[in-house]
Amino acid sequence: MASTLGSSLVEKEKKKPFTPPREVHVQVTHSMPPQKIEIFKSLEDWAEDNILVHLKPVEKCWQPQDFLPDPASDGFEEQVRELRERAKELPDDYFVVLVGDMITEEALPTYQTMLNTLDGVRDETGASPTSWAIWNRAWTAEENRHGDLLNKYLYLSGRVDMRQIEKTIQYLIGSGMDPRTENSPYLGFIYTSFQERATFISHGNTARLAKEHGDLKLAQICGTIASDEKRHETAYTKIVEKLIEIDPDGTVLAFADMMRKKISMPAHLMYDGREDNLFENFSAVAQRLGVYTAKDYADILEFLVGRWKVEDLTGLSGDGRKAQEYVCGLPSRIRRLEERSMMRAKAGPKVPFSWIFDREVQL
Ligand SMILES: [Fe+2]
Ligand SMILES: [Fe+2]
Repeated sequence: MASTLGSSLVEKEKKKPFTPPREVHVQVTHSMPPQKIEIFKSLEDWAEDNILVHLKPVEKCWQPQDFLPDPASDGFEEQVRELRERAKELPDDYFVVLVGDMITEEALPTYQTMLNTLDGVRDETGASPTSWAIWNRAWTAEENRHGDLLNKYLYLSGRVDMRQIEKTIQYLIGSGMDPRTENSPYLGFIYTSFQERATFISHGNTARLAKEHGDLKLAQICGTIASDEKRHETAYTKIVEKLIEIDPDGTVLAFADMMRKKISMPAHLMYDGREDNLFENFSAVAQRLGVYTAKDYADILEFLVGRWKVEDLTGLSGDGRKAQEYVCGLPSRIRRLEERSMMRAKAGPKVPFSWIFDREVQL
């Protein structure tokens, strides 16, 4: 009986037309006490004066076209040729990382969804006039330029398998993500503070590497995106700073909770239809090239602990003090673990990436 049941489940699994990677942990919802929603309602005016100011008016924003060959100009073909000449100097492993970053940006619908899961700050109608909803939409609109620019650049470079990349994007958006923020804006804004800084660092590093390989135009592209991420980091960290002022205990507990669960990368469910370990492989290359590393994770955490002056918080509850101690001690613990694993680490194997026509890259 058991075996029949087992095999019928396997059959069912096989017949499913769409089985991308899935979240495996328990999904907790609405963990913030409902009365705390009032905190966010009362911060409406504060957010207008302090958070919306970190958005840039569209007329003052850069657009992807500012960094790309102009298809309406006579010089278009020549500009594309130059772009492709420069791209020839960039190694395959660099392209793997740049493609992974682009795919992460292209899953933007997932991140807007994530923001709109948060109680008290979600966009209730799709065009809600609250400060929080205005931020959500305008943040998304600014972010939308990132994937757009990188996608067009990579298309023109001629170095990557666009169809495989496009499939990966479709799979990734279809999979979504559960950053384990539990509809809580406390957890949500801690997560976004961390993520904006993580993307600031990684785009900054792809800019630095492009420059080292002699491609100043690509360096400018990645650097410009990095500066948007920095501005977004400033806004999100300011929200959490305000929450600490209003509710230090609740905020430090949320910070510790988020760090115990670990900050999952937004694209950790990426899949190209072939490689089950695609995200791990991409992360290993990013780590090896120094674009985004375990050390960066510890550095970001340390930065946030300092930014929010967590060490100086007083008047916390017993649990609050434990949470404070945990997050303050965590950066050095992560670094120690990292140093130990680095000592044990051997050179990784070479694996093919479908994004670059199955050419092999060392992990
Ligand atoms: Fe971005
Ligand atoms: Fe961002």
